[in-house]
Amino acid sequence: MTTAPLIDARRYRDVIGRFATGVTVVTWDTGSVRRGMTANAVASVSLDPTLVLVCVDRHGAAHAQLATVETFALNVLAEDQLEVSRAFAQPGVDGMLGVPYRSGAHGAPLLRDAVAWLECAVHERLEGGDHTIYLGRVLALDIQRPEVAPLLFYAGAYRRLGAPLE
Ligand SMILES: Cc1cc2nc3c(=O)[nH]c(=O)nc-3n(C[C@H](O)[C@H](O)[C@H](O)COP(=O)(O)O)c2cc1C
Repeated sequence: MTTAPLIDARRYRDVIGRFATGVTVVTWDTGSVRRGMTANAVASVSLDPTLVLVCVDRHGAAHAQLATVETFALNVLAEDQLEVSRAFAQPGVDGMLGVPYRSGAHGAPLLRDAVAWLECAVHERLEGGDHTIYLGRVLALDIQRPEVAPLLFYAGAYRRLGAPLE
């Protein structure tokens, strides 16, 4: 028996979209496919051990590929990487799309022009409804462009960082 959802999906997206986020590209290398996927369902989870999370839609090609990998990277995009975000948000991306990168020490592609990156081991895959929650244990990390502002996402639109409030 299916039950009607209590919360309308569109309304949920509108409301949760008021939680402003940065924008990342999750990257991985299966051995045969090296690619990325734009993601903002990302959070810091734990300091000891150092864990982050990213939620991945179960219905896409990315999900099937990520099921096979042991490492991935989170690349924090800069405000001049709007087109990179758009490119890696296309369904079924095949490859790195000409975006400059290098392979990290643990095998995940690291975007050259990202503000920062975190290379992670898959710590756990947790059931999260129509998404899988990837817990990543941070293996290596760096801030590559400390002077550059991040790309933000809010209410369905890309934004830039405003002035500090204090
Ligand atoms: C700003 C933004 C944030 C996104 N965040 C996520 C996310 O956190 N998790 C996710 O699974 N998809 C997210 N997406 C959608 C994926 O980038 C997109 O569906 C991608 O095409 C999936 O690749 P696939 O079809 O190869 O699985 C986001 C898209 C945009 C534009």
